[in-house]
Amino acid sequence: RPHYRIAPSILSADFARLGEEVKSVIDAGADWIHFDVMDNHYVPNLTFGPMVCKALRPYAKKADGTAVPIDVHLMISPVDALAAEFADAGADLISFHPDASAHVHRSVQAIKAKGCQVGLVFNPATPLDVLDWVIDDLDLILIMSVNPGFGGQSFIDSALRKLEQARKRIDATGKDIRLEIDGGVKVGNIRQIADAGADTFVAGSAIFNTPDYQAVIAQMRAELA
Ligand code: DX5
Ligand code: ZN
Repeated sequence: RPHYRIAPSILSADFARLGEEVKSVIDAGADWIHFDVMDNHYVPNLTFGPMVCKALRPYAKKADGTAVPIDVHLMISPVDALAAEFADAGADLISFHPDASAHVHRSVQAIKAKGCQVGLVFNPATPLDVLDWVIDDLDLILIMSVNPGFGGQSFIDSALRKLEQARKRIDATGKDIRLEIDGGVKVGNIRQIADAGADTFVAGSAIFNTPDYQAVIAQMRAELA
């Protein structure tokens, strides 16, 4: 049984109180903080950059002081310059879309060289083929179950089949590579998503659009138990 992780996306948090939101969702049981970076170029929306990541870094810790990983999801093109800035801003994991980088292998190595874990992100219509050549270098594979750019969209079912394919590829490496899902994850579908092979679950609106973060996270864990 995998060690499941829940990674609330602060895209759906109250942007006027981001530090407090990070703290509350960690107190409510979040394992990672998912940080969605949008540039109004790769995706038609604009969010936050390395300065905000750096400002939030001190809030991303548990009550006992343990650091909580900041999981940066870059929806930007080009990738390399800003990825390095996120590493300096305290990101723990940095994932990017292979179609957003002219030289995927180079971008992967550059992120690792900065001491961060690295992931590749696959849009709903993007095949996994690039994994043939880089999977051994990855710490994480992120499957998009919505088209990137906005929170609150519904889960695209073909992502389940893609998770199954990604799970097979990961298991064939024998390496510890996390399989993350992002988009439309709710209490009602998380079990099915886990059964398809995911071990790490991003959830934005499902958590932040409710008054009781702790209750939702507990319900998700109960589904996974
Ligand atoms: C979409 C982002 C997601 C988004 C998920 O581009 O990558 O992380 O916040 O939001 P929900 O969980 O509301 O679908
Ligand atoms: Zn995301």
